[in-house]
Amino acid sequence: MRLRPFRRADFESMWKLDRTCFPPGIAYSRSELRAFLSRKTADTIVAEREGDVVGFVLGWRRSKTEGHVITLDVAPSARRHGLGRRLLAELERRFRAAGVREVQLETAVANTIAIAFYERLGYRKVAHLTDYYGPGMHAWKMQTMLGHRRQM
Ligand SMILES: CC(C)(COP(=O)(O)OP(=O)(O)OC[C@H]1O[C@@H](n2cnc3c(N)ncnc32)[C@H](O)[C@@H]1OP(=O)(O)O)[C@@H](O)C(=O)NCCC(=O)NCCS
Repeated sequence: MRLRPFRRADFESMWKLDRTCFPPGIAYSRSELRAFLSRKTADTIVAEREGDVVGFVLGWRRSKTEGHVITLDVAPSARRHGLGRRLLAELERRFRAAGVREVQLETAVANTIAIAFYERLGYRKVAHLTDYYGPGMHAWKMQTMLGHRRQM
């Protein structure tokens, strides 16, 4: 499994992977995904296994010191092998190099696996976002501070 920068040719695989990872209403449409990828300060890292995209993380810098994880997707067949952790660590490394101090994200309250994952990696719930993904689909806003070494 190797990590590399995103290429335009990855787009369709990434969009399909996102639909595998998230339920309707939370998975991104093609146009949403395209818009996130083309944000000026977007940073996207892809994980490839034998030529297939099996994971990616997409983040962007909201300001000089604030980073945001837009999505982190790992194919079901590649989970629990440390890939999510590697992708997030690489995004955080890039954020840190760009001067980011604080990273935020939103995840569905029902997504207990993602919440466990992010808490394991040092993120904390900071706000409950009612109906964030639509009626009855609440989210947690989670956050961590960078700039200190953490055991990964
Ligand atoms: C959340 C997700 C990215 C984790 O990816 P992964 O590659 O399986 O995660 P890792 O193997 O790096 O796991 C790191 C740690 O997170 C925790 N974790 C991961 N999956 C977990 C699970 N199913 N149950 C409990 N804890 C879990 C564990 O502490 C794990 O460490 P360990 O394996 O040493 O116990 C993946 O499950 C996924 O893509 N889910 C669907 C999309 C999603 O919810 N994305 C996040 C919201 S943006």
